[in-house]
Amino acid sequence: MNDTTFTILRIDGSARYADSVSRRLADETVERLRAAHPGARLIHRDLGAGLPAIDEAWVAANFTDPEARTTEHRAALALSDTLVEELRAADVVVMAVPMYNFGVPASVKAWVDLVARARVTFRYTPQGPEGLLRDRPVYILMATGGVRVGSELDFASGYLRHIWGFLGVRDVHVIAADGLNRDGEQALARAREQLDAALAARVAA
Ligand SMILES: Cc1cc2nc3c(=O)[nH]c(=O)nc-3n(C[C@H](O)[C@H](O)[C@H](O)COP(=O)(O)O)c2cc1C
Repeated sequence: MNDTTFTILRIDGSARYADSVSRRLADETVERLRAAHPGARLIHRDLGAGLPAIDEAWVAANFTDPEARTTEHRAALALSDTLVEELRAADVVVMAVPMYNFGVPASVKAWVDLVARARVTFRYTPQGPEGLLRDRPVYILMATGGVRVGSELDFASGYLRHIWGFLGVRDVHVIAADGLNRDGEQALARAREQLDAALAARVAA
C-alpha cells in the first residue's frame, strides 16, 4: 500500500559530500524507511553550506507577539518558520551529524537556534519547560574520527538528545559510526548493527 502521507525529514550536517560517512548512513536509512513506506514524502534539509545565525532582527521578531509583527518581523522569521513547518510535518527524522571539535557542526547549532522557539516548539509552564512537538522517531547518525560517542569528550550526542527532548521528542536513537580514523570498516559495521536494531524495534512496535 502506498504511504503517501508519511513524511521523512532528512537533515544533513556534514560539510562533505563525496566521502561523508554520515551522509552515506543517512542514504541507507532513508532507503530503508522508504522501503517500509512506499510513496513516502521526503523533505531534505541540507545544512552542508551552513545556515544563517540568528541575529538581532530575528530575536526582536521572535519576542514580538505574533499579532503585532510587522512585515520586517515576518521576513526575519521566514526561514525559521519554514524549518519549524518541516519539523511539524515529519513522521520520522533522519539526522546525519558529524562531530566537529567535540560538538555539533555550527550549521546544526544554527538549525537548533532557528527551530527552538518559545510558544512555537516549546513553552514555559509553572512546572518547567514543555516541548510542543509531537513525539516521533529520530535517528541521529553520528560520525566521529576518534572520539567515542557517549564518552566524556562527546558534547554532541547528549546535547542533541536533550534538545529533542526539550522540544517534546523522546523517541531518539543515536547510531554511532565512531572512531572512523581507527578502523572505518569496523565502525561502519557497528553503526549498521545499531541501525538494524533500531529499525527492527520500530517495525516490531
Ligand atoms: C572540522 C572538523 C572537526 C572535527 N572534529 C572532530 C572531533 O572533535 N572529534 C572527532 O572524533 N572527530 C572529529 N572530526 C572528524 C569527523 O567527525 C569525521 O571525519 C566524520 O566522519 C565526519 O563526518 P562525515 O564523514 O559525515 O563528513 C572532525 C572533522 C572535521 C572536518
